[in-house]
Amino acid sequence: MTAPTVATGVTDELMQAARSALDAAYVPYSEYTVGAALRTADSTVFTGCNIENANYSNSLHAEEVAIAEAVKNGHREFDRLAVSSGARDGVTPCGMCRQTLAEFCADDLPIVCDEGDDSTTTYTLGELLPATIGPETLEYAERSRNEK
Ligand code: THU
Ligand code: ZN
Repeated sequence: MTAPTVATGVTDELMQAARSALDAAYVPYSEYTVGAALRTADSTVFTGCNIENANYSNSLHAEEVAIAEAVKNGHREFDRLAVSSGARDGVTPCGMCRQTLAEFCADDLPIVCDEGDDSTTTYTLGELLPATIGPETLEYAERSRNEK
């Protein structure tokens, strides 16, 4: 895996949006807030926060809330994601969220993770989720269906 690039002094607008989204997090169980900000190809920003549930497994992740908000508003092309946690611990999207991102985003999507103050670590989606199943994986099945 390529070494992540650490950049200082780049607390950009998108990261500020991810940090602002932390305020809405509903986390009575883990008390671990996560905020995400997803920028579309036309530079619209959609944010999400984690929303926990008493049955634990129904908890919504910040990234999936941001994706749902964007897709529901008709956006399917994205060029950047920023993720923050109240702990400012460089949190990255979990495996499930990486896969959800892969449905709509290319391998080169930059994912900027908040290390606190002005420090971030940027990965690409492909670094975090190599060799994934995506829409193009199913094209073969679609082609053979169409040939019948
Ligand atoms: N969480 C997210 O919101 N995004 C992730 O991808 C990692 C985990 C949330 C879920 C739960 O509310 C809390 O962080 C602790 O796992
Ligand atoms: Zn997740």
